[in-house]
Amino acid sequence: MTKDHVVEDHASAELTIFPVLGLPEFQQGDDLAAAIAAAVALRDGDILVVTSKVVSKVEGQVIPAPADPEERDALRRELVIKEARRVLARRNRTLITENRLGIVAAASGVDGSNLRQDELALLPLDPDASAAQLRERLRELVGADVAVIITDTMGRAWRMGQTDNAIGSAGLAVLHRYGGSFDAHGNELQVTEVAIADELSGAADLVKGKIGGTPVAVVRGFRPQDDGSTARDLQRPIEDDLFNLGVEEAMQLGRLDAVPARRSTRQFSAEPVDPEDLRASVADALTAPAPHHTHPVRFVWLRERALRERLLGRMREAWQADLESDPFTADQVQRRLAKGDILFRAPEVVLPFLVPDGAHTYRDQRRNDCERTMFLVAGGAAVQGLLVSLAARSLGSCWIGSTIFSAEVVREVLGLDDRWSPLGAVAIGHPAEPAGPRPKWDAGPYLVER
Ligand SMILES: Cc1cc2nc3c(=O)[nH]c(=O)nc-3n(C[C@H](O)[C@H](O)[C@H](O)COP(=O)(O)O)c2cc1C
Repeated sequence: MTKDHVVEDHASAELTIFPVLGLPEFQQGDDLAAAIAAAVALRDGDILVVTSKVVSKVEGQVIPAPADPEERDALRRELVIKEARRVLARRNRTLITENRLGIVAAASGVDGSNLRQDELALLPLDPDASAAQLRERLRELVGADVAVIITDTMGRAWRMGQTDNAIGSAGLAVLHRYGGSFDAHGNELQVTEVAIADELSGAADLVKGKIGGTPVAVVRGFRPQDDGSTARDLQRPIEDDLFNLGVEEAMQLGRLDAVPARRSTRQFSAEPVDPEDLRASVADALTAPAPHHTHPVRFVWLRERALRERLLGRMREAWQADLESDPFTADQVQRRLAKGDILFRAPEVVLPFLVPDGAHTYRDQRRNDCERTMFLVAGGAAVQGLLVSLAARSLGSCWIGSTIFSAEVVREVLGLDDRWSPLGAVAIGHPAEPAGPRPKWDAGPYLVER
């Protein structure tokens, strides 16, 4: 777009906002339009701003409730859930929901203010339709072409305090889009979209208030444009919502993803690992199940570079000697040895060990072997726990089996006694590349059901 593309400013030179005084206490079936028409001389172009509570009252959306505060609260909670499409968050005792109208609000818009103590109000059934009807009725009654906004008071996720917002409207463009226009300094207003109907709702609240029993106000002098939009168009489509998952949904998805999110990472970035993350993941790993309420796993974190190199150097020599005793060519031996390079490269290396303290001893070898297996699988569970917890902290890891093949060397270099059985080594660091989603995987033939 060029500077010739002109978008008019939404600002008015002057506005008058005044309350509509002398309205009666409304009941189901009352003629709201007639009461308003009798109370105020409306003019073409006026914007009538109506608190949703009175619309709820005349439409019969007020529910009788027990006077007992506890029973009333129980009913309120029931109604909040009934009115909700989904629960997005819980703040103390208040649920933040997306309600049946698609409005994200505290308590699904269920409210007891400005009602008798034995009543609760739901939002109007279809506030845009209510606004359109009120507009039409007023045109019939007084011949004036007015716009109508139906408001509700809402909190803001990122700011203190509540403001009134439009939940229903008719006869005015709810958004003023500046896309492609330029300010006085030549800056393009690419993303500016003013929520006109919400601003008018907030402005009208300044004369209506909350406790004075003034549910209707008139904004005069605004010159509403009508593009057919309604308050529903102010609801951000779910796909554009930066926070389209509720807290509970997000946590549930996170939990479901915890295990498959772990992938073996073999290339790491230079970004250092936060020692606190590593300690926290080791602590998580230690929550793994183990036989007889024991803690048979230990982790050795190789923090000294020189110690790590001495250990890996000695392991490599032992492995090379092993490989050379096999019928491998020199080239094949070198290629296999190169596989151990990851432990030199990784930003951090942690060695898990099995120390089967608390294992039972039997008279026969068979049962001692079973006991050993039982502790070994507990060791595997703890290592997997470590990897999953690291992945949950966006840390990549790769479990490398090599220390299992050089247990003597490991114990000797690290000064450990022979109860310590190495369970491999874990290379840890920030992944050089994001792992991408794991291909879909189902249990298939690996799950035998009998
Ligand atoms: C006990 C054990 C030893 C392993 N040793 C090695 C290893 O020496 N080198 C390696 O690159 N990966 C090693 N792995 C990782 C596997 O290769 C890896 O888990 C497998 O390829 C599946 O990929 P994923 O972990 O990304 O799901 C080992 C895994 C386990 C459980």
